[in-house]
Amino acid sequence: MGDAVPGRLSHLAVGLASVAALAAPLTLAACGADDAPPVALSADGTRGQERARAIGCTNCHSADGSKRQGPTFRGQWGKVVTLSGGRTATYDEAYVTESVRNPNAARRPGFTGAMTPYDQAKVSDADLALLMAYVRDLGAG
Ligand code: HEC
Repeated sequence: MGDAVPGRLSHLAVGLASVAALAAPLTLAACGADDAPPVALSADGTRGQERARAIGCTNCHSADGSKRQGPTFRGQWGKVVTLSGGRTATYDEAYVTESVRNPNAARRPGFTGAMTPYDQAKVSDADLALLMAYVRDLGAG
């Protein structure tokens, strides 16, 4: 009995070590999908990514194509998107500006969540230009 306990403890320790070894790469992969989009960002795009994180856009909009509360920013730029009611819009500067300043003007089917409008006090025109660069860079991917 006295011998069995240390044996079992060391077995447990080995088990935990291998769980940790398996978990580490998985954690890195999950972060990589979000933080390091596999497209090259321009200087303004990189600053836009920082602003998007600081303001909180990235809580609802992914950079990797995955759906969150809102549509992904990935691969959208220049595409024609279908809005509720069958209207279409080109995903361009005017569309992104309207989506930030007056998001409920154009609804995307399949997204029931609401986005708060961002006025000048929350997102300045300078910020909007950087966010635009970020979304445009991701749009190419
Ligand atoms: C609380 C979650 C949330 C936050 C935060 C948020 N959005 Fe949104 N966003 C949404 C949802 C939901 C939609 C879809 C809205 C709709 O269909 O009307 C959307 C739509 C958009 C669209 C149109 C996308 C498309 O594919 O049609 C753009 C562009 C956009 N948001 C940019 C931003 C930017 C830039 C920020 C930060 C300043 C931001 N969003 C913050 C939830 C959010």
